[in-house]
Amino acid sequence: HWTDAERHTIADLWARIKPDELGAQALARLLIVYPWTQRYFSSFGNLSNAAAIIGNPKVAAHGKVVVGGLEKAVKNLDNVKGIYTKLSELHSETLHVDPSNFTLFSDCLTITLAAKLGPSVFNAEVHETWQKFINVVVDALSKQYH
Ligand code: HEM
Repeated sequence: HWTDAERHTIADLWARIKPDELGAQALARLLIVYPWTQRYFSSFGNLSNAAAIIGNPKVAAHGKVVVGGLEKAVKNLDNVKGIYTKLSELHSETLHVDPSNFTLFSDCLTITLAAKLGPSVFNAEVHETWQKFINVVVDALSKQYH
């Protein structure tokens, strides 16, 4: 259910960004804007203020890990549910991450991405395709919750 134009848009977006940077900045944004999400990252050390969060090497490292997960979805658009089965189980059964946080994080990703690319690249049509992609990701990650 992806058109060629949508596939092209997703691949093009991904080619334009530095994935590690996107992950680190979006995760920092999540922890700053929605401070209750910090409870899942109590092992990450100092998250006491915005500067500490932005400069925290564990936040940056985990941002990379998360974006590595996203990249798998970018490269497997037709089987996101399949490749995310284990990851969904991990977030549900082991990490007990409330799935509403996936939506919060996806908004942080969208804002970070848009801020990097600017409105001439991240126009309404591109936003719509990106939103479709990230919705598929959120659905797939939420799949193993019951
Ligand atoms: C771990 C991906 C959203 C909390 C992970 C890992 C990946 C990942 C790939 C490493 C799994 C492993 O070690 O096998 C994603 C993706 C997300 C997402 C693609 C959404 C697009 C979230 C959100 C939270 C969260 C919203 C919490 C607010 C965690 C935690 C870990 C983890 C606590 C373990 C961290 C550690 O101690 O190493 N995630 N994640 N994730 N994720 Fe997520």
